[in-house]
Amino acid sequence: MPKLIVVTREGEEREVMGDAGLSVMEVIRDNGFDELLAICGGCCSCATCHVHVDPEFAAKLPPMSEDENDLLDSSPDRDARSRLSCQMQFTNALDGLRVTIAAED
Ligand code: FES
Repeated sequence: MPKLIVVTREGEEREVMGDAGLSVMEVIRDNGFDELLAICGGCCSCATCHVHVDPEFAAKLPPMSEDENDLLDSSPDRDARSRLSCQMQFTNALDGLRVTIAAED
């Protein structure tokens, strides 16, 4: 089971384990991080699952779709490390992935 490291908005860092095949959003939510709202449930229509991904994992992430890119554009906290966590499938290749929950819009 791969490991995910989650950094909250307050800077608290916690390691959790997640089933490969879930989305990164589902792993975060299932481990009780209430500040990741994920309002649309993973339909790529809300951007409340926005995270910043550590650069060392950038090459291992699935490519960004046009819809994800457009949604992230609506966030003032967007930067080069921004992704929607519901659009990243958690896999064994992402073991040790570190994400920081983005600021609330
Ligand atoms: S949960 Fe809504 S866009 Fe990811």
